[in-house]
Amino acid sequence: MTVDSKGTVRPILDMNAFDKAQAETAAPAVARRLDNLGAASVLFYREPIQMVSAAGAWMTAADGRKYLDFYNNVPSIGHSHPEVVRAVADQMARLNTNTRYIVDVVDAYLEALKAKLPAALSNVVLTCSGSEANDLALRVARKATGGTGVIVTENAYHGNTAFVTEVSPSALKRGSLPDYVVAIPTPSQENYGPDIAEGFTASLRAAIAELDKRGLRPAALIVDSIFSSDGIFADPPGFLRPAVQAIRDAGGLFIADEVQPGFARTGDAFWGFARHGVEPDIVTMGKPMGNGFPMAGMAARPDHLAAFCTDVGYFNTFGGNPVAAAAGAAVLRVIEAEGLQDNARDTGRYLLDRLSALADTDPRVAAVRGAGLFIGVDLCDPSRDMAPDPDFAVQVIDGFKARGVLIGAAGRFGATLKVRPPLCLTREEADQFADALADILA
Ligand SMILES: Cc1ncc(COP(=O)(O)O)c(C=O)c1O
Repeated sequence: MTVDSKGTVRPILDMNAFDKAQAETAAPAVARRLDNLGAASVLFYREPIQMVSAAGAWMTAADGRKYLDFYNNVPSIGHSHPEVVRAVADQMARLNTNTRYIVDVVDAYLEALKAKLPAALSNVVLTCSGSEANDLALRVARKATGGTGVIVTENAYHGNTAFVTEVSPSALKRGSLPDYVVAIPTPSQENYGPDIAEGFTASLRAAIAELDKRGLRPAALIVDSIFSSDGIFADPPGFLRPAVQAIRDAGGLFIADEVQPGFARTGDAFWGFARHGVEPDIVTMGKPMGNGFPMAGMAARPDHLAAFCTDVGYFNTFGGNPVAAAAGAAVLRVIEAEGLQDNARDTGRYLLDRLSALADTDPRVAAVRGAGLFIGVDLCDPSRDMAPDPDFAVQVIDGFKARGVLIGAAGRFGATLKVRPPLCLTREEADQFADALADILA
């Protein structure tokens, strides 16, 4: 693909996807899938993989090939973790129902989860997806502030409901954002120079002024606190603090979308926002929360939630069911028992060092950055003034696949490798990844 001179944003779901124009010549299993899902089908790779099982950091395909999974942060404590499997099976065999009955496992889980959150966010609404959690968070923020404006980053993704699609610039294939949404540049050195905190805050203030020009007040600044789809920007720690103050000064709330960085991935803390020394007004979470069991949630202040609930009720048939609670509780126990946050920090640092060494010797690796086991690797074309090189990224991704490693891309141009293995990753597996990249580059 080519990136036009205006710097077209590449829709997130198009990155490293199977090209449906090739449907005619597709393998029978692929054609069957396209038949079933139609235009909504999104498959990884030019030659999609048929998977049959997975355990730990490894997935097994129908042809017997094993792949090291560096892509998927849902099975974050390891694919098919036996403790989660057991907890889900036991609870499913005993009782599964909705939150209109009192079931001890649900309250015990909520208390364990709240122990990880800022004390002020003492009400948690459980949902089935991160999209639902963000949708609810934005509605709560609108009610709490009386504002309607939403400020996001330029390549943000916050989910798939009608509302959150509107605040997800990276989901747009055409058209523009609605009036109430202002997107600000990614917090990168490239955009802001050395003082990212000051530059990002200035952008936020300009966005607030832009809303004001449109006759709107801000309801919220919502960010994925590790800026995954923007290309992974964790540093310097604390850069979000003045922006959080600025949105509050303007009457808006700060929503931390922890769907990607939450649950110990960044190593230094359990949540991505903690790296910045801020306490969000609302926290949303999902993906790794149930290690594959679909569950998500929103934590808010009781007064904010109460204000929202005076206008409309909120009930989610499957959200917070006892099986989800059992899965979530098992995830929290395993993170603790297996020391996965420490492993994310230590193995993440080891991997970052190995990848940085490659950047030192190969000009096509423009930058390596991240926190814990969430690392971004920028690929560029040195012959075009170090321009981001999405075509090269696709070649590298295919090279990884040929070497039995699964990986995806992120960022405005899809030229950043999104390195996001399970938190149980061993040093040997980290070496395997770094060796594969060295081999591909060679
Ligand atoms: C940062 C972020 N927020 C929200 C979502 C939406 O979560 P879900 O797909 O569970 O609805 C995603 C999904 O990729 C995400 O990356």
